Amino acid sequence: MTTFNTPLTFKSGVTIPNRLVMSPMTTQQSFYNGTVTRDEIQYYADRAQGLGAIITGAANVQDGGKGWPGELSIAHDQMLPELSALAKAIQARGAKAFVQIFHAGRMTTRATLSGVQPVSASAVAAERLHAETPRALTVAEIHETIQAFGDATRRAIQAGFDGIELHGANTYLIQQFFSPHSNRRTDDYGGSRDNRYRFIAELLQSVFAAVDAYATKPFVVGYRFSPEEYETPGIRVADTLWLLEQLRASRLDYVHVSLSRYDLTAHDPAYQAKPILAYVHDALQNRLPLIGVGGVRDRTDVTTALQDAEVVAVGQQLLYDPTWAVKLAQGADDALLSAPFAEAVNFVPLNTPLYNFAAARYPKPTNA
Ligand SMILES: Cc1cc2nc3c(=O)[nH]c(=O)nc-3n(C[C@H](O)[C@H](O)[C@H](O)COP(=O)(O)O)c2cc1C
Repeated sequence: MTTFNTPLTFKSGVTIPNRLVMSPMTTQQSFYNGTVTRDEIQYYADRAQGLGAIITGAANVQDGGKGWPGELSIAHDQMLPELSALAKAIQARGAKAFVQIFHAGRMTTRATLSGVQPVSASAVAAERLHAETPRALTVAEIHETIQAFGDATRRAIQAGFDGIELHGANTYLIQQFFSPHSNRRTDDYGGSRDNRYRFIAELLQSVFAAVDAYATKPFVVGYRFSPEEYETPGIRVADTLWLLEQLRASRLDYVHVSLSRYDLTAHDPAYQAKPILAYVHDALQNRLPLIGVGGVRDRTDVTTALQDAEVVAVGQQLLYDPTWAVKLAQGADDALLSAPFAEAVNFVPLNTPLYNFAAARYPKPTNA
């Protein structure tokens, strides 16, 4: 049984001092063009102590991949000085600094892209209110996007980060290529499951080529995924277990499942005998560490989640309880803030964009 305060050394050679990491959370605190702000650096520095690593909120690798105003960007070399300051501020508190890199694909709007139409694997809108129909990427543009992930990896290395996390979860572009809902292509990048995986396979090649060319010390590459989609057609647990078969044989340092609760059960009746986290963990066959996540608030949650994961990611609790990990390490469990997030968000000193973003995602219960 893993305890949270033991270090973990990844395949690449990077060691995190303990098993608690900050889950990637978009904060909308960057400048209009995605440059890191001082507020943002302070926000991460305030939360880094006591953690094994911080995974930053999603950073777009191309301007056309921007998902929200105020989003972090890693698309241009001019962003390097501020990215570097961010990495240093996290590392100065003893945590490793990982930047999550992504492209929003169809999950953005013309308004966010200053009038430019969003792109995706195919011209199919998401099944969401007000979703815009994207334009299908050409094969040449697919290659450019894959290269952009490699370039973003180079920038993460040059900025001094300890690693990157590929954001293959939460319905963004990487997932859109793997999903039969958003990917209706008839070329080599669509159709069969193997073909829908091609984008991911080439992405890994591009990212590791950048690591080989630029990293002068061990550098972590992780991958985040969502295990199920509700759309039909859509990604099912069986597809995810197949994906994990591919990923466990790769050079990745870890995989990170995206779940709202670590003990969530799958929608698919064929996979309801245990939590999804356990299915995912078993599929990895101890060949790749797993980061579990979702609703971790106290020591019991950490201990339970670590039964089916090597590392635990914590999101909302750290938003309003920045020193949570320090308190846990010191045994000050009584001092952990325990109000439900929907209530606590009303008292936490978050800046306005972050407060609004979090409050919209986790509204107060209607009977409150
Ligand atoms: C404000 C906010 C922003 C988020 N942004 C991201 C993101 O940029 N990338 C990502 O992979 N997940 C994102 N998530 C999901 C979290 O990483 C996490 O998986 C989820 O909140 C469940 O964990 P928790 O219950 O500990 O918060 C976000 C969550 C919140 C609350």
